[in-house]
This record gives sequence, C-alpha cells and structure tokens, in this order.
Amino acid sequence: MFITENNLFLLSTATTSLLLRVNEAKKLVCEYYGARLKDLQGAPALVRNFPVGQGTSLAVDEGQLSALSPDYFKSEFALAGKGDYNAPSLVMENEDGTVFDFLYSGYELLKETSLIRGLPTPHGGKEEVVFSFVESVMKATLRLHYVIYEEQDVIGRYVEIENDNEKPLTLHKAASLQLALVNEDFTLVTLYGSWANELNQERQLVRHGRFLNESFNGFSSNRHNPFFLLDSKGTTATDGRSYGFNLVYSGNHQESLELDAFSLLRIQCGVSPFLFRKILAKGASFSTPMAVMSTSKDGENGVSHHFQRFVNDCVIPLPWRGKPRPIVYNNWEATMFNFDKGKLVALMKEASDLGIELFVLDDGWFGSRNDDSHGLGDWQANLKKIPGGLASLAKEANKRGLQFGIWMEPEMVNEESDLYRAHPEWIVHDALHTPSKGRHQFTLDLSKIEVQDYVYTAVKGVLLSAPIAFLKWDCNRPLSDFPASSSSFFFDYMLGLYSVLNRLIAEFPNVLFENCASGGNRFDLGMLSYFPQSWQSDDTDSFERNRIQSGALLGYPLSTLSNHVSAKTSNQLLRSTSLDSKFDVAAFGVLGYELDLNDLSPLDREIIRAQILYYKEHRTLCQFGSFSALASFSEGNEARFEVTLGKEALLGYYEKLQCPAPKETRLIAAGLESDVLYHFCERQESISLKKFGHLLNLVAPVHLKEDGFLVNFLAAHRDMKSEQSEGEAYGSAFSSVGVALPQEWSGTGYNDQVRLLGDFGGRLYYLKAVEKA
Ligand code: GLA
Repeated sequence: MFITENNLFLLSTATTSLLLRVNEAKKLVCEYYGARLKDLQGAPALVRNFPVGQGTSLAVDEGQLSALSPDYFKSEFALAGKGDYNAPSLVMENEDGTVFDFLYSGYELLKETSLIRGLPTPHGGKEEVVFSFVESVMKATLRLHYVIYEEQDVIGRYVEIENDNEKPLTLHKAASLQLALVNEDFTLVTLYGSWANELNQERQLVRHGRFLNESFNGFSSNRHNPFFLLDSKGTTATDGRSYGFNLVYSGNHQESLELDAFSLLRIQCGVSPFLFRKILAKGASFSTPMAVMSTSKDGENGVSHHFQRFVNDCVIPLPWRGKPRPIVYNNWEATMFNFDKGKLVALMKEASDLGIELFVLDDGWFGSRNDDSHGLGDWQANLKKIPGGLASLAKEANKRGLQFGIWMEPEMVNEESDLYRAHPEWIVHDALHTPSKGRHQFTLDLSKIEVQDYVYTAVKGVLLSAPIAFLKWDCNRPLSDFPASSSSFFFDYMLGLYSVLNRLIAEFPNVLFENCASGGNRFDLGMLSYFPQSWQSDDTDSFERNRIQSGALLGYPLSTLSNHVSAKTSNQLLRSTSLDSKFDVAAFGVLGYELDLNDLSPLDREIIRAQILYYKEHRTLCQFGSFSALASFSEGNEARFEVTLGKEALLGYYEKLQCPAPKETRLIAAGLESDVLYHFCERQESISLKKFGHLLNLVAPVHLKEDGFLVNFLAAHRDMKSEQSEGEAYGSAFSSVGVALPQEWSGTGYNDQVRLLGDFGGRLYYLKAVEKA
C-alpha cells in the first residue's frame, strides 16, 4: 500500500510500514520503520524536528535552515561534501569535482514494477515508488526505487544514477540501500564461515564506530553472507523487534553499520566498493542490485518467516514456485571420480528400489577428467567410462523410474583441457602475472561476450544431449588475477554470469538448476533468482549440518536447502552418526542421499526406505513450511527445529552430547494455535545393536565380542526400535511448558520406553490439529 500527503510517503506491507518524508532540505529521510500504520493520520507526530542546530554540524542553509544538518537527519542516501560526515552511500566524481548535492525533484508511482537492467529482480512486487533527485550543477540525476512486496512483508530498494553531463561521471561506490534507525542497543547477527564450515551465526553488540560485513573473493562468499539481522535490545528468537536485510546479488558485497555521534545507526547494503568503478557517458545510467529489508515484532523468527516467504514467492524462478522437489541421489561422496557405467547403473538400481526419484551424476563424467586436474571445459561425455554417453545413462535411469541429472562447472577450465589449449586468452588474467590456480583450475572471463556465448552453448549442448531434468552448477574457486579494466571487473563478471543464466533458464524452464560453489561459496538471493535450490556445504556431517541449516534458515527458506544423508562416518570429520540421525536433520529442506548404496546392509536399506516414505508423506511441510529454530547448539547442548504449515508441524529435537544425569526434556513448539488440540507422533528410529557395546552380553545367550564378527553380522540384520511417544496436547501447552517426553537413557537400564539419543542424536515429531467430530 502506498499513500502520500504533504511530502509524507507511507509504504506499507501486510504488517510493516516505512514512513519517508521529503524534508526542508529537499532530501528523503526515514521517519519510521516498524509496525504497520493504517494511514497517514498521526504520521506528523512521528517526524523528528530540529528547532536548534547540534554541536559543530554544518547547516543546510545558514539563513533559512540553520538548525538542520545532514549530519543528523535520517537520510535515505548520503554523499560527502555537504556536511554529512557519516560514511557516504554514494561516491562519484567528474572532472569538476566530487561534491554532489542531489535535491528532490518529484516522485512517480509505477503501475508495473520495473526490471533492473542486467540484474535479477524479484517478481511479485505490488507497487513501485521512484523518488527523483537532481544535481543541477554537476548535471546528474539520482533515482531511489522502492518496491513493495506486500504479502511477503518485504521492501526492496535500489538506486539508479544517470549522468546528464557531457563530462563523464565516475561512480566509485553505489550502495543499494541506506536506512537510519534510532539506536535500540542493537545486536547484530551475521553469518560467517569457510569451506565445509559455512553459515555460522555471529552475534555482537553494535557499538559506536563502523562495522563492515564484506566479501572480496568475487562472490557473495562463504566468508560473510550478505544477509544480516539487527535485534533490538531484549529480542529473542520469538519475541521483540528485529530487522533483516539482504542483497539480490552474487558478487562482492558490503554491509556497513555505523553508529554515529548522535547514536543513529546508519545501515547500508550494496556492491562492495572494492575495485568498483563505473564510468557513465552522457545519458548513461547505472542501476545497483536490489537490497531488501523486513521487520517484525516476533523476534528473529518473525523476520525469517518474512524472508522465507519472500524467497519462495518472489525470488526463485516462477515455474518452481511451490513445486515439490524430487528426492535426489548424488554419487559424489560414494565414488568421487572412481566410477564406470556399471557402477552407476548398480547405484541406480538401488536408488530406484529405495524410492529415490532422481539420479545425479556428479563430477568426472566428461573429457579426460579422472581427477580434479584435468578436463574442465571439455563438456563431452567420456565414452570410455560411459559407453553410449549421457543419453544411455539417462535411459538406464528413466527405465528404473528415476529422472536423470548432471553436474557441471561451466565457469571453469583446467590447464589440461582442449578448451584451454584452444583459448588460453579466455581465462581471467591480468596479462602480467602468472595466473593463480585453485583446485588446479582457472576461471573463464565471463565479462567477455564470446566466453558467455561459449558457456551458454556448452551447457545447452549438454542439456540437449539427453533427457536431463537437473543440473548441479558448481564453481569451485574464487576469482583472482583481475584484469585491468576501465570498469568494475567483478561487477561485469556477475552481469556476464546472469546473462548466461537468464538465457538458460528461459530455454530450459523445466530443468531444476541446483546452485553450488564448493558448497555455499555463492549462496545468495542473486543465485536463487535462477536456482531454486542450493547445495549448502561439502560438510555432510549431520551435527555440522544442523548448525549450517539453522544459519541458512534465518534468511532463506527450506525449499532452497539441498540436504543429503551421507555415510554414517562423515568424510569431513570422520564422526560417526546413525543414518536416522542424519535424516532427522536432512529432512528440513530438500532431501537427498549421497553414500554408496551398494554397501548398505539389509537393515540400512530398510531404514532408508522408511525415511523416504516418511519424507514423501510430509514433503510439502518439509520443503515449504515456515521454519523456526527454537534452540541452537551455539547456545547449549540441544537444538530444536520447528516447521509449521496450516494445521501441521514437524519438530526436530537434537542433542550434542549424551549426559549421565539427563534433565527432563519437554517437546516445545512455538508456531501452533493456542486453543487447538494437536496430535503428536514420534517417528520411530532404528537403534543399532552395536550402540550397546559389550552390554549386549547382559541379554545375549552367547558371549559377544564388542567388535566381533557375530555382532557385526547381527547388527546388519537386526536392530532395536526407539521409543515412540504419541499423544494429544493443546497448542498453548506446546508453546509454554511443553509436552513430557519419555525418560532419557541414563546408564541404568533400557526398555522400549527409554529415549536413547546418544551423542549427536535426534528425533522427529509430527503434529497435526485434531479435527473436531
Ligand atoms: C564441489 C562440490 C561437491 C562435488 C565436487 C565435485 O566440491 O561442492 O559437491 O560436486 O565439487 O568435484
């Protein structure tokens, strides 16, 4: 909803309002961002006035506006040179200088929301308001675009700058968003990480000074995700005001927080100014990516829910909106490069038998690729490994009721490849230094049209070569050796990539594209605009995944997380966890499997088959419900996941370490209706006989050695079943004290009512409202 009157502008979503005002200095300022306002009545009371000037601040105009200074009004954009001494959100120059003073010239309400040239633009915006500002001396125009995503409770903002001068205009920094909030003793929540250790939550108090969350490796990066939250003092997961921000962009980004001398917090989000430069000739304009923001009174989860809905509804490609995602098998962790057609077909047989729906052939199927030093760039099937090529494999898969998918890393090339031998000039390099390699590979320079065309044609060729339903698009090294450029190489690289992706998704709307960059090195709203889902991490250890998924779900929905159950002993940490514990975590998102299915014991097969049936039954909830983390391992020994959708919920309960004197555990849920009675039912799990070690001898008729042949044989065929609690309780009970769970294992006895989780174990509980008779 958009209402305006007397230079006040109210932009409202279902539960939030942003009140903007053109002030006496002809600047746009934010007077309020919070709970929804019905209309503009009462709005004047929200406006901050300045009867006298503060300190040594420079006045806008000593004669007329002596009390007003840009140093302390809550401007929606900031440039240096006219008395605003906070970090500028825009930095530009032409040969006449660097001082630009843009003054308001009018606004426009667009009937249809516009597309940002060359950049992904979320769809489904209800209204777009564009405020224009003119710099009459330097001859330039600034436009601030606000897009209202009403039902999703999100406001998008981006900036457009146009040069109206014969003299070229150089942009050095162009933040997409600036917002000033009154200090509420904010806690900042960011997501940092590294390979196999993505999306850790960091919480810190915002202090005076400036804090930057930024990436420099060419991509949004696994180091510092562009998403962040600001919690008012006292805000928890479920209560209190929280503000969230993100950027629809996949390259270097910068989020800046500056708590200034007057205790205003100035927030900026945008492309990183690191080596950023855009030169605009007369008449040319530049548009930034869109930044998005939301706020809620219902704590961090409230903001998360807004963003989860926004991504599902407005970011991922429309053909995939609400569309169930298949259960995938991926051969990477099982075989790595070591496979042939026979091995793959054997895996397909097992996958199909277990109920898996799509088989993904990962790295190593093309060119001379038998390890990671060869073949990238040569996208023809290796017929020695796969006689008959991809088409024959797809046929084998389809014959068994499986769809077929493929891995590619289209932006990369190995020195040992036909592509590199033919086009060494296509790699990113500065022509002065020997280019650095990462994983033995170079990056193709997607800022070049001919390289974009090659990548597009190569991917298209593969997609047309067989009935391929799924493409995992990898990107396994960051950028280096940036070429000299009159423009911003990093930005142009991204435009090149987006252009290729635009062409491909338009041509192959039914192919499910999965984003991957060594796991989550490019997990952002830009990539999600083309890829409905994303491989989060090369770390498939379930305890690690619990942490990674809770980080991701703060800003992104379940449907975007591709989670695979891998072998019991994780490749990454060599930690052993049961298949069921792995499933308990992987079920929160898009489920897949990534272990050698031919090595499964008869019991393992039964376990996986049961998991798949359970997941299929609750798929909509697992992929499209609203997720909340009710407790997290970063704060203690337990983690609690909740997903709700209509009258249903799925709860995950996890423990880090088993305790000899366990506390009473209650089953808690936050997102239920208070007066509705819910039936809850625990998913029964398999408990390996081996878990009991030599204690088995207390019940065994013959002596059993802890690691002996007999124990291993028995454990492959027989197990113990976990307790299975079930009952009914009101939503209010779940959300306050919780429902009693069975006594936990405490080393003194065991029967079918004892809850034995073990280290890193978990359980799932399905809840459904009881229908009134
Ligand atoms: C990256 C991906 C993995 C796998 C390998 C293949 O590491 O994240 O999932 O595809 O590449 O080389």
